[in-house]
Amino acid sequence: MATERTLSIIKPDGVEKGIIGKIVSRFESNGLKPIALRLTHLSKREAEGFYAVHKARPFFNDLVTFMTGGPVVLMVLEGENAVLKNREIMGATDPKKAAEGTIRKDFATDIEKNTVHGSDSAENARVEISYFFPEVQVHAYDWKKLT
Ligand code: CMP
Repeated sequence: MATERTLSIIKPDGVEKGIIGKIVSRFESNGLKPIALRLTHLSKREAEGFYAVHKARPFFNDLVTFMTGGPVVLMVLEGENAVLKNREIMGATDPKKAAEGTIRKDFATDIEKNTVHGSDSAENARVEISYFFPEVQVHAYDWKKLT
């Protein structure tokens, strides 16, 4: 297994519910370290650009409205097999289908207010990380030196 990085977003419903700490704790306790993190309020342009791949989908406008409706937390998570591990910790996109003990099962309201986003492949992770954290590309984090 390789050390990977993935992009995670705590969506406006997660921030509004006051569960930023609980969500970050789930990542940390499963071996995913936040190596970049910021709270921000996405502009319409940023959200449309981020979700451009979904532009033709019927839910696109609602998704952009939701994602710009309140603050979000953007994170780069690093760890073994980070892309897949993050997706396991999040659970299925639709919380009705999410497994027990996942973030979406425990906190999400519906398929739109589904609390977290995570990159779905290593390639998309690179694209999504550089979209919000271009500076992370040139950093190297050596945790062995720090701990
Ligand atoms: P996310 O992982 O952020 O990627 C795209 C988002 O679109 C997805 O999570 C959902 O929150 C949202 N979405 C809203 N409606 C749908 C739908 N019918 N099918 C898939 N995704 C949807």
